[in-house]
Amino acid sequence: MNATVRDAAIVSFDNVSKWYGEYRALENISIDIPKGQVVVVCGPSGSGKSTLIRTVNGLEPIQEGRIILDGTDVHARKTDLNQLRQKVGFVFQHFNLFPHMSVLDNVTFAPIKIQKKPKDEARDFARKLLDRVGLAEKADTFPGFLSGGQQQRVAIARALALRPPVILFDEPTSALDPEMVGEVLLVMKSLASEGMTMVCVTHEMGFAREVGDRIVFMDQGKVILDDTPDQFFSKSDHPRVQRFLADIRREA
Ligand SMILES: Nc1ncnc2c1ncn2[C@@H]1O[C@H](COP(=O)(O)OP(=O)(O)O)[C@@H](O)[C@H]1O
Ligand SMILES: [Mg+2]
Repeated sequence: MNATVRDAAIVSFDNVSKWYGEYRALENISIDIPKGQVVVVCGPSGSGKSTLIRTVNGLEPIQEGRIILDGTDVHARKTDLNQLRQKVGFVFQHFNLFPHMSVLDNVTFAPIKIQKKPKDEARDFARKLLDRVGLAEKADTFPGFLSGGQQQRVAIARALALRPPVILFDEPTSALDPEMVGEVLLVMKSLASEGMTMVCVTHEMGFAREVGDRIVFMDQGKVILDDTPDQFFSKSDHPRVQRFLADIRREA
Protein backbone atom coordinates (compact mmCIF):
# COMPACT_ATOMS: atom_id res chain seq x y z
CA MET A 1 0.00 0.00 0.00
CA ASN A 2 1.56 3.33 -0.95
CA ALA A 3 1.72 6.32 1.38
CA THR A 4 -0.92 8.37 -0.42
CA VAL A 5 -3.57 5.68 -0.14
CA ARG A 6 -2.67 5.04 3.47
CA ASP A 7 -2.97 8.72 4.30
CA ALA A 8 -6.45 8.85 2.84
CA ALA A 9 -7.62 5.92 4.98
CA ILE A 10 -10.03 6.65 7.81
CA VAL A 11 -9.34 3.24 9.30
CA SER A 12 -6.20 1.32 8.68
CA PHE A 13 -5.34 -2.18 9.96
CA ASP A 14 -1.67 -2.97 9.77
CA ASN A 15 -0.86 -6.63 10.35
CA VAL A 16 -3.26 -6.94 13.28
CA SER A 17 -3.55 -10.10 15.34
CA LYS A 18 -5.71 -10.70 18.36
CA TRP A 19 -5.92 -13.59 20.79
CA TYR A 20 -8.60 -14.50 23.29
CA GLY A 21 -6.34 -16.48 25.61
CA GLU A 22 -4.85 -19.18 23.41
CA TYR A 23 -7.33 -18.64 20.62
CA ARG A 24 -6.27 -16.47 17.74
CA ALA A 25 -9.40 -14.60 16.69
CA LEU A 26 -7.70 -12.25 14.20
CA GLU A 27 -4.70 -13.27 12.15
CA ASN A 28 -2.46 -10.73 10.40
CA ILE A 29 -5.22 -8.44 9.22
CA SER A 30 -4.16 -5.61 6.91
CA ILE A 31 -6.91 -3.50 5.41
CA ASP A 32 -7.29 0.18 4.64
CA ILE A 33 -10.67 1.84 4.54
CA PRO A 34 -10.61 5.10 2.60
CA LYS A 35 -12.98 7.96 3.27
CA GLY A 36 -16.41 7.49 1.76
CA GLN A 37 -16.09 3.78 1.21
CA VAL A 38 -18.77 1.26 2.20
CA VAL A 39 -17.12 -1.97 3.24
CA VAL A 40 -19.25 -5.02 3.82
CA VAL A 41 -17.68 -7.61 6.10
CA CYS A 42 -19.12 -11.10 5.89
CA GLY A 43 -18.18 -14.66 6.69
CA PRO A 44 -19.39 -17.59 8.74
CA SER A 45 -20.34 -17.29 12.39
CA GLY A 46 -17.25 -17.16 14.60
CA SER A 47 -14.96 -15.96 11.81
CA GLY A 48 -13.96 -12.81 13.73
CA LYS A 49 -16.21 -10.15 12.19
CA SER A 50 -17.43 -8.65 15.47
CA THR A 51 -13.96 -8.88 16.93
CA LEU A 52 -12.58 -7.04 13.92
CA ILE A 53 -14.86 -4.04 14.23
CA ARG A 54 -14.71 -3.98 18.03
CA THR A 55 -10.96 -3.47 17.84
CA VAL A 56 -11.47 -0.25 15.86
CA ASN A 57 -12.76 1.75 18.82
CA GLY A 58 -10.75 -0.13 21.41
CA LEU A 59 -13.62 -2.25 22.72
CA GLU A 60 -11.20 -5.16 22.27
CA PRO A 61 -7.43 -4.97 22.75
CA ILE A 62 -5.06 -6.36 20.11
CA GLN A 63 -1.78 -8.14 20.70
CA GLU A 64 0.02 -7.45 17.45
CA GLY A 65 0.01 -4.80 14.75
CA ARG A 66 -1.55 -1.39 14.66
CA ILE A 67 -4.91 0.20 13.96
CA ILE A 68 -4.99 3.85 12.92
CA LEU A 69 -8.34 5.59 13.19
CA ASP A 70 -8.48 9.02 11.60
CA GLY A 71 -4.83 9.58 12.38
CA THR A 72 -4.83 8.13 15.90
CA ASP A 73 -3.15 4.89 16.92
CA VAL A 74 -6.12 3.24 18.68
CA HIS A 75 -4.17 0.88 20.90
CA ALA A 76 -1.26 3.15 21.78
CA ARG A 77 -0.91 3.57 25.53
CA LYS A 78 -1.26 7.34 25.37
CA THR A 79 -4.53 7.24 23.40
CA ASP A 80 -7.56 8.53 25.26
CA LEU A 81 -10.22 5.95 24.37
CA ASN A 82 -13.12 8.12 25.51
CA GLN A 83 -12.04 10.82 23.15
CA LEU A 84 -11.31 8.36 20.38
CA ARG A 85 -14.75 6.75 20.63
CA GLN A 86 -16.37 10.03 19.66
CA LYS A 87 -14.90 9.44 16.22
CA VAL A 88 -16.68 6.14 15.70
CA GLY A 89 -20.39 5.54 15.43
CA PHE A 90 -21.29 2.02 16.50
CA VAL A 91 -24.58 0.31 15.70
CA PHE A 92 -25.13 -3.02 17.40
CA GLN A 93 -27.31 -5.99 16.58
CA HIS A 94 -29.48 -5.41 19.67
CA PHE A 95 -29.79 -1.60 19.37
CA ASN A 96 -28.57 -1.02 22.96
CA LEU A 97 -30.70 2.09 23.46
CA PHE A 98 -31.07 3.49 26.97
CA PRO A 99 -34.54 2.16 27.91
CA HIS A 100 -35.26 4.79 30.56
CA MET A 101 -34.61 7.73 28.22
CA SER A 102 -36.78 9.21 25.51
CA VAL A 103 -35.72 8.79 21.91
CA LEU A 104 -34.53 12.40 21.81
CA ASP A 105 -32.51 11.98 25.01
CA ASN A 106 -30.93 8.82 23.61
CA VAL A 107 -29.71 10.82 20.64
CA THR A 108 -28.54 13.88 22.60
CA PHE A 109 -26.95 12.00 25.49
CA ALA A 110 -23.40 11.75 24.17
CA PRO A 111 -23.28 15.20 22.53
CA ILE A 112 -24.43 16.85 25.78
CA LYS A 113 -22.67 14.70 28.37
CA ILE A 114 -19.47 13.85 26.54
CA GLN A 115 -18.98 16.60 24.00
CA LYS A 116 -20.50 19.25 26.29
CA LYS A 117 -22.59 20.66 23.45
CA PRO A 118 -25.22 23.26 24.40
CA LYS A 119 -28.54 21.49 24.95
CA ASP A 120 -30.48 23.48 22.37
CA GLU A 121 -27.94 22.84 19.68
CA ALA A 122 -27.80 19.11 20.51
CA ARG A 123 -31.59 18.84 20.46
CA ASP A 124 -31.90 20.71 17.16
CA PHE A 125 -29.40 18.42 15.52
CA ALA A 126 -31.01 15.33 17.08
CA ARG A 127 -34.39 16.33 15.65
CA LYS A 128 -32.81 16.69 12.23
CA LEU A 129 -31.27 13.25 12.55
CA LEU A 130 -34.56 11.71 13.69
CA ASP A 131 -36.22 13.29 10.71
CA ARG A 132 -33.56 11.83 8.48
CA VAL A 133 -34.25 8.29 9.77
CA GLY A 134 -38.00 8.88 9.46
CA LEU A 135 -38.78 9.15 13.17
CA ALA A 136 -39.29 12.86 13.79
CA GLU A 137 -42.62 12.21 15.44
CA LYS A 138 -41.16 9.69 17.92
CA ALA A 139 -38.78 12.11 19.67
CA ASP A 140 -40.62 11.94 22.99
CA THR A 141 -41.42 8.24 22.89
CA PHE A 142 -39.52 5.69 24.97
CA PRO A 143 -37.68 2.87 23.17
CA GLY A 144 -39.96 0.18 24.62
CA PHE A 145 -42.85 1.58 22.60
CA LEU A 146 -41.00 1.29 19.30
CA SER A 147 -40.67 -1.64 16.92
CA GLY A 148 -37.26 -3.22 16.45
CA GLY A 149 -36.82 -1.46 13.12
CA GLN A 150 -37.65 1.89 14.67
CA GLN A 151 -35.29 1.26 17.58
CA GLN A 152 -32.49 0.44 15.20
CA ARG A 153 -33.14 3.63 13.25
CA VAL A 154 -32.90 5.58 16.53
CA ALA A 155 -29.61 3.79 17.18
CA ILE A 156 -28.36 4.99 13.80
CA ALA A 157 -29.44 8.57 14.58
CA ARG A 158 -27.63 8.28 17.91
CA ALA A 159 -24.48 7.07 16.16
CA LEU A 160 -24.66 10.05 13.79
CA ALA A 161 -25.11 12.55 16.62
CA LEU A 162 -21.39 12.78 17.26
CA ARG A 163 -20.73 13.46 13.57
CA PRO A 164 -18.23 10.60 13.40
CA PRO A 165 -16.03 10.16 10.33
CA VAL A 166 -16.91 6.45 10.24
CA ILE A 167 -19.80 4.25 11.37
CA LEU A 168 -19.45 0.57 12.21
CA PHE A 169 -22.47 -1.70 11.99
CA ASP A 170 -22.45 -5.15 13.60
CA GLU A 171 -25.26 -7.18 12.02
CA PRO A 172 -27.74 -4.31 12.39
CA THR A 173 -30.65 -6.25 10.90
CA SER A 174 -30.07 -9.76 12.25
CA ALA A 175 -32.26 -9.30 15.31
CA LEU A 176 -35.16 -7.80 13.34
CA ASP A 177 -38.35 -9.37 12.09
CA PRO A 178 -38.03 -9.75 8.32
CA GLU A 179 -40.55 -7.03 7.53
CA MET A 180 -38.38 -4.46 9.35
CA VAL A 181 -35.08 -5.23 7.70
CA GLY A 182 -35.83 -3.08 4.65
CA GLU A 183 -36.45 0.16 6.54
CA VAL A 184 -33.09 -0.10 8.30
CA LEU A 185 -31.22 -1.00 5.11
CA LEU A 186 -32.85 1.97 3.42
CA VAL A 187 -31.44 4.33 6.04
CA MET A 188 -28.01 2.73 5.68
CA LYS A 189 -28.25 3.06 1.93
CA SER A 190 -29.07 6.77 2.19
CA LEU A 191 -26.06 7.31 4.48
CA ALA A 192 -23.88 5.55 1.95
CA SER A 193 -25.18 7.73 -0.86
CA GLU A 194 -24.29 10.81 1.18
CA GLY A 195 -20.69 9.65 1.30
CA MET A 196 -20.50 8.28 4.85
CA THR A 197 -17.62 5.91 5.50
CA MET A 198 -19.20 2.68 6.70
CA VAL A 199 -18.06 -0.76 7.78
CA CYS A 200 -21.03 -3.08 7.80
CA VAL A 201 -20.94 -6.60 9.15
CA THR A 202 -24.00 -8.07 7.50
CA HIS A 203 -25.33 -11.12 5.74
CA GLU A 204 -27.64 -9.00 3.63
CA MET A 205 -26.11 -9.85 0.30
CA GLY A 206 -28.56 -7.68 -1.64
CA PHE A 207 -27.29 -4.69 0.31
CA ALA A 208 -23.70 -5.83 -0.18
CA ARG A 209 -24.17 -6.08 -3.92
CA GLU A 210 -26.07 -2.84 -4.31
CA VAL A 211 -24.43 -0.53 -1.78
CA GLY A 212 -21.05 -2.04 -0.97
CA ASP A 213 -17.94 -0.69 -2.64
CA ARG A 214 -16.04 -3.66 -1.38
CA ILE A 215 -16.61 -6.99 0.32
CA VAL A 216 -14.24 -8.38 2.89
CA PHE A 217 -14.81 -12.08 3.47
CA MET A 218 -13.47 -13.55 6.68
CA ASP A 219 -12.96 -17.11 7.80
CA GLN A 220 -11.24 -18.34 10.96
CA GLY A 221 -9.84 -14.93 11.82
CA LYS A 222 -8.36 -14.27 8.40
CA VAL A 223 -9.36 -12.10 5.50
CA ILE A 224 -9.83 -14.65 2.74
CA LEU A 225 -11.08 -12.25 0.07
CA ASP A 226 -11.18 -8.49 -0.27
CA ASP A 227 -12.78 -7.53 -3.54
CA THR A 228 -15.51 -5.61 -5.32
CA PRO A 229 -19.04 -7.01 -5.04
CA ASP A 230 -18.96 -7.90 -8.75
CA GLN A 231 -15.85 -9.97 -8.32
CA PHE A 232 -17.12 -11.49 -5.11
CA PHE A 233 -20.44 -12.67 -6.50
CA SER A 234 -19.56 -13.58 -10.04
CA LYS A 235 -16.00 -14.69 -10.13
CA SER A 236 -15.19 -15.97 -6.72
CA ASP A 237 -14.48 -19.67 -6.95
CA HIS A 238 -13.13 -19.89 -3.43
CA PRO A 239 -14.73 -22.99 -1.86
CA ARG A 240 -15.37 -21.26 1.49
CA VAL A 241 -17.10 -18.35 -0.19
CA GLN A 242 -19.18 -20.75 -2.26
CA ARG A 243 -20.21 -22.64 0.85
CA PHE A 244 -21.02 -19.41 2.70
CA LEU A 245 -23.23 -18.13 -0.12
CA ALA A 246 -24.97 -21.51 -0.39
CA ASP A 247 -25.65 -21.52 3.37
CA ILE A 248 -27.09 -18.01 3.21
CA ARG A 249 -29.37 -18.94 0.31
CA ARG A 250 -30.58 -21.94 2.26
CA GLU A 251 -31.46 -19.77 5.28
CA ALA A 252 -33.30 -17.19 3.19
N1 LIG B 1 -14.76 -12.50 24.74
C1 LIG B 1 -14.35 -13.63 24.13
N2 LIG B 1 -13.61 -14.56 24.78
C2 LIG B 1 -13.18 -15.67 24.15
N3 LIG B 1 -13.43 -15.97 22.86
C3 LIG B 1 -14.17 -15.10 22.17
C4 LIG B 1 -14.67 -13.90 22.76
N4 LIG B 1 -15.38 -13.22 21.81
C5 LIG B 1 -15.32 -13.98 20.70
N5 LIG B 1 -14.60 -15.09 20.91
C6 LIG B 1 -14.30 -16.13 19.91
O1 LIG B 1 -13.61 -15.52 18.82
C7 LIG B 1 -14.09 -16.02 17.59
C8 LIG B 1 -14.60 -14.89 16.73
O2 LIG B 1 -15.78 -14.34 17.34
P1 LIG B 1 -16.58 -13.15 16.71
O3 LIG B 1 -15.67 -12.05 16.39
O4 LIG B 1 -17.72 -12.85 17.60
O5 LIG B 1 -17.11 -13.83 15.35
P2 LIG B 1 -18.29 -13.39 14.38
O6 LIG B 1 -18.72 -12.02 14.73
O7 LIG B 1 -17.70 -13.52 13.01
O8 LIG B 1 -19.38 -14.39 14.57
C9 LIG B 1 -15.15 -17.07 17.93
O9 LIG B 1 -14.55 -18.33 17.90
C10 LIG B 1 -15.57 -16.70 19.33
O10 LIG B 1 -15.98 -17.84 20.02
MG1 LIG C 1 -20.55 -11.25 15.28
